[in-house]
Amino acid sequence: MTSETLWYANRATGAVCLVLFTVVVLLGIAVRLRTRLPGLPRFGTMSLHRTLSLSATAFLALHVAVAVADGYVNITALDALVPFVSDYQPFWLGLGTVALDLMLAVLVTSLLRDRLGHRAWRTVHWLAYGAWPVALVHGIGIGTDAGTDWMTWLTVTCVATVLTAFALRAAQAVRAARQTPAALLHTEGAHR
Ligand code: HEM
Repeated sequence: MTSETLWYANRATGAVCLVLFTVVVLLGIAVRLRTRLPGLPRFGTMSLHRTLSLSATAFLALHVAVAVADGYVNITALDALVPFVSDYQPFWLGLGTVALDLMLAVLVTSLLRDRLGHRAWRTVHWLAYGAWPVALVHGIGIGTDAGTDWMTWLTVTCVATVLTAFALRAAQAVRAARQTPAALLHTEGAHR
């Protein structure tokens, strides 16, 4: 495979990773909000969230593999795992590495979920949300296609959908917090 092919593959898999991780984040929020997606059974949203996160991880592995295989720039396997040590674009590449490490932590703890317990698993799972903006900034900072019309639209769409989903999630959390004291008072009143 020529260096040019690998470079195109790196850019294409980067864009696919961004889209897949965005959908994974949206589905994660949908699971929390107990959203039932049209045409899917009750646990369909959860299954889709899991399946797509595995697909996203596979694409991420490919994205990293082609970046390392491309001899035109010097990126080693270590650069892909240890943040900010690369000779090539250390800061922007380092952000991709931070996102990768966070994703790996989420993957490993999800596989060990039964042994870790729900609380520890959930704490680490929050990191996945943190990994998303870090990966986004990595793509904007290092990507050849950043600034092209299609990439700008893709990025804006991803950001807008995630922000909307977060706003809905935050609104639900506020509603739940408001309801809890009222529900407690109601229960206490019933016991008197
Ligand atoms: C969750 C993690 C990651 C995501 C979502 C992601 C996504 C992206 C995106 C969207 C681009 C921009 C493509 C373009 O505009 O051309 C990109 C570029 C790039 N990524 Fe990643 N990336 C991730 C992690 C990594 C890691 C760990 C590496 C380390 C090897 C890496 C190496 C690169 C390189 C070298 C480019 C530049 C390609 C070019 O020359 O245009 N990425 N990535």
